[in-house]
Amino acid sequence: MKTLLVTGGCGFIGSNFIRYMLDKHPDYMIIGIDALTYAGNPENLKSIEDNPNYRFFRADIRNRNMIEQIFAFYTIDYVVNFAAESHVDRSIKEPDVFLTTNILGTQVLLDAAKRQWRLHPGNKYDRSYRDGVRFHQISTDEVYGSADDGEKFTEESPLRPSSPYSASKAGADMVAMAYRRTYGLPVTISRSSNNYGPYQFPEKLIPLIIINCIYDRPLPVYGDGLQIRDWLHVNDHCRAVDMILHSGKDGDIYNIGGDNEKANIDIVKQIIHTLGKSEELINYVEDRPGHDRRYATDSTKIETQLGWSRNHSFEQGLEECISWYLNNMGWVKRIVSGEYRRYFETMYG
Ligand code: NAD
Ligand code: DAU
Repeated sequence: MKTLLVTGGCGFIGSNFIRYMLDKHPDYMIIGIDALTYAGNPENLKSIEDNPNYRFFRADIRNRNMIEQIFAFYTIDYVVNFAAESHVDRSIKEPDVFLTTNILGTQVLLDAAKRQWRLHPGNKYDRSYRDGVRFHQISTDEVYGSADDGEKFTEESPLRPSSPYSASKAGADMVAMAYRRTYGLPVTISRSSNNYGPYQFPEKLIPLIIINCIYDRPLPVYGDGLQIRDWLHVNDHCRAVDMILHSGKDGDIYNIGGDNEKANIDIVKQIIHTLGKSEELINYVEDRPGHDRRYATDSTKIETQLGWSRNHSFEQGLEECISWYLNNMGWVKRIVSGEYRRYFETMYG
């Protein structure tokens, strides 16, 4: 039985990933850890909370003592680090926590993984011997900054982060690769484009627009709305991470893109029309400072080297996603009212 540690497991992608991995690898033990910030919602994993192959710890990745205790108790085969402050607008208002969680928290995890890896027979004396633990860092295509017309980011593109969020993610990538080069710890990194799907916290464009549409509230569109994002279904992202974990090359970086560039305003209109609402709800508001105009991710490497491809078309994926929010209005209402926080305060203190 392999043991997989997933950080940020109560967030959007982390919770989808834990469900995906329990289903795909029923013989794996999954340890989920999460600080349960505003973005962490244990209800996202309610369907699997009694699964005997899943354990949850409320832990902050910056808390060295607690992280070391978890590594002392379990022999971890894989670490997948999703835990992060993830919202660009919040990073502009309050950058501090982005730097501490995203960079220093990652370093705490790397230290704990390194210590366990060193204890593994073989690794103590031979840095080329790679067994014991593999560390996978979840990064983002935002580390490449804004793409010019016609340009697509490859894994070799220079890092030009624009926001405190993307700068902190670029910093974490560099620290992770430095741990591989300096100490020999097996590390891989993936850089995905914008995800959409169930359980996404409604501060992000797609769930925010769906929910505001449902409640007939104004739909905030930044600037001219012509900024382009490359949308990827969250399950296609989870499958890619699983492939990298098992077949990825130690020390390598993999881009994971949707090959699906859309202007924000087109997404907003598509949601309005699917829900039968009026375009009068659109409310153009002040632009995000330093707003990246376009992201475009080249996924040739993961496609050709690991055989990954997308299962979800955007048209069908977005319709299913809208239906998911409509069918899970209890989940939506508990977030909108703030009740979801009381749920975990009573469960986890
Ligand atoms: P999210 O905000 O929904 O979830 C983040 C989770 O991390 C939450 O559960 C939160 O409680 C937890 N967390 C935050 N600080 C923590 C800390 N100090 N210790 C432990 N847990 C902590 O984010 P998401 O959209 O699921 O993103 C997950 C990861 O994927 C992030 O690393 C993000 O940078 C990356 N990413 C996201 C996207 C996207 O489109 N959402 C795309 C590419 C990469
Ligand atoms: O590219 C990957 C990144 O995608 C991840 O690393 C981030 O964690 C994730 O948050 C996401 O970043 P974005 O800034 O692209 O996502 P967001 O949903 O915040 O915004 C998408 C686009 O929509 C962006 O151009 C800003 C715009 N927008 C967003 C909001 C919340 C609006 O026009 N109105 C809004 O209200």
